[in-house]
Amino acid sequence: MTGIAIILIACSNTESKEKPTLKEAFKNKFLIGAALNTGEISGKDTAGLRILATHFNSIVAENCMKSEVIHPLEDQFNFTLSDQFVDLGEKQDMFIIGHALIWHSQLSPWFCVDENGENVSADVLKERMKTHINTIVGRYKGRIKGWDVVNEAILEDGSYRKSKFYEILGEEFIPLAFQYAQEADPDAELYYNDYNEWYPGRRETVTRLIRTLKERGIRIDAIGMQGHLGMDSPTLEEYEETILAYNKEGVNVMVTEFDLSILPFPKAGIGADLSANFDYQKELNPYTEGVPASIQEAWNARMLSFFRLFIKHADKISRVTMWGITDQDSWKNDFPVRGRKDYPLLFDRDNQEKPVVQMIINEAKQ
Ligand code: G3I
Repeated sequence: MTGIAIILIACSNTESKEKPTLKEAFKNKFLIGAALNTGEISGKDTAGLRILATHFNSIVAENCMKSEVIHPLEDQFNFTLSDQFVDLGEKQDMFIIGHALIWHSQLSPWFCVDENGENVSADVLKERMKTHINTIVGRYKGRIKGWDVVNEAILEDGSYRKSKFYEILGEEFIPLAFQYAQEADPDAELYYNDYNEWYPGRRETVTRLIRTLKERGIRIDAIGMQGHLGMDSPTLEEYEETILAYNKEGVNVMVTEFDLSILPFPKAGIGADLSANFDYQKELNPYTEGVPASIQEAWNARMLSFFRLFIKHADKISRVTMWGITDQDSWKNDFPVRGRKDYPLLFDRDNQEKPVVQMIINEAKQ
């Protein structure tokens, strides 16, 4: 081998070792996070964990802290996975987020009803919420740095979702949940998290909620704007308007649950409404053999333009969290149609970083 060849190999090795990472690129801007599933939390998905350690500095529990998992029966908690999740985060020096304390979906069946299936009284529900929040937040006090306290309680038209919590306690269930969380760990950040917040009705009610909590001396630190995006909706301007509206209320904005589906939506405006399910049709699953170059380019451009927006508003945004690490893991493969092949994340099915990652990093450096 010639001297020049040796130098070239040495240089290319150095280059691959020093390939810029997302967390370095966003170091002075915002945290960059990922949702972890069971494979990663249990340590089985070693490739996913390598990507996590290289590119991310924050984690959120995709499923293991939902009430049906962590609190399956009134007198029974299951902390097996959530303990592993928090241990993993601490070992890797991650900013750890708990998701989600009060959510109508994946709700433990016992939570809001008595043994006859009838709604419990307001006092009983308050007590149950308090125990639930106290036990979980208390267990991870000082370790979990931020909590999605209430998830998806408001609808696109600005009205409250008619969940069991709402039926029994009215709007009051939200301030109560924040109060209980604040009491359980006064140092943890507290968040309200929702999807489709670019709809004016929803944005206005969330804004009113922030004001109400603040007026009553109850802390709310940030609003999570879920970023389950499609190729056509929302527009950058719609998303930006909501960032600005929340910033005006004096809270941080977090881009949570970020993914960009490349597939056609069977119906507009579904967001992350888990009750929406559509039958499989071949036309709704067009990229089983790979994505054509022109479509991929459009996806890259849209992903990049959203990161450009986040960078522009880095003074208002405290965290951007991807809803998963690789395309293989994404919930979008089964929503709103089961069994499709989607490509919504930053890392592909072979655990390789997509070209858009270095484009985003370059954008952050400018
Ligand atoms: O763990 C079981 C497994 O034992 C079983 O074999 C398998 C059979 O389908 O199901 C597995 O559970 C699934 C679980 O994900 C873990 O993969 C559930 O069926 C499935 O409903 C669940 O979906 C999750 C969904 O929330 C409902 O909790 C998605 O992974 C998760 O990405 C999604 O996340 C939500 C956020 O929490 C809130 N915002 C919307 C977002 C997307 O829906």
